[in-house]
Amino acid sequence: MRIVLVGPPGAGKGTQATRLAEKLSIPHISTGDLFRANISRQTELGKLAKSYMDAGNLVPDEVTIAMAKDRMEQPDAENGFLLDGFPRNVSQAEALGELLETEAIKLDAVLDLEVPEEEVVKRIAGRRICRNDSSHVFHVTYSPAKKEGVCDVCGGELYQRDDDSEETVRKRLEVYHTQTEPIIDYYKAQGLVVTISSLGPVEEITQRALEALKREDGGK
Ligand code: AP5
Repeated sequence: MRIVLVGPPGAGKGTQATRLAEKLSIPHISTGDLFRANISRQTELGKLAKSYMDAGNLVPDEVTIAMAKDRMEQPDAENGFLLDGFPRNVSQAEALGELLETEAIKLDAVLDLEVPEEEVVKRIAGRRICRNDSSHVFHVTYSPAKKEGVCDVCGGELYQRDDDSEETVRKRLEVYHTQTEPIIDYYKAQGLVVTISSLGPVEEITQRALEALKREDGGK
């Protein structure tokens, strides 16, 4: 399947994407994680991305689209992928559409995770991620690491993301409403959007998502 995951910061996209990708045997492609990996390696792309991410703004389309395209063209994504955090505005959605068209492939679904803003704030305030791999995600209350400050998966150090400060989160939410939400209508016009609640235990949400995707797939 080819799926786009959309939802506000802290909706649980990364958490669900990891689980869904494993269950569906497709790669999880997160532009946020790709940027953070570049920041860790101190590449030129990482330096550029960090200045935008720390301010809560989108990284320019040109570099983001090129990076996402490059990742989608890797052999493991040949038969499907789960995009997390891309596309993030209508011009990125159009660029993705063009890319898929040249390959004569189509998206199967756009999974929209709904969560109230007060929950987003709680989730982001308690989030801790691993220095080795930002897809290893914990929460101080909701999913604490077995040993405080240490990643259960690889033993790396857990830390709070630089863009998880209250001020930056407010900016990220504003950017989500103004720039990202319009892609939901863009994809609704193509009949691709499946909306589910992202409230409740993580495993229940994964099941909810799988059932919704199955219905969507069966309805085609
Ligand atoms: P990105 O990394 O994509 O961040 P985001 O979209 O803001 O989303 P988050 O990672 O904050 O949240 P999430 O929904 O993945 O939630 P999570 O699963 O971690 O992007 C960061 C930045 O990169 C952007 O601001 C931008 O600058 C740049 N960027 C990225 N893509 C771009 C693009 N396409 N174009 C331009 N710029 C781009 O969960 C959050 C917390 O809640 C965790 O602690 C988790 O343990 C907990 N949690 C999850 N589910 C539950 C649950 N059900 N119950 C309780 N707690 C839960």
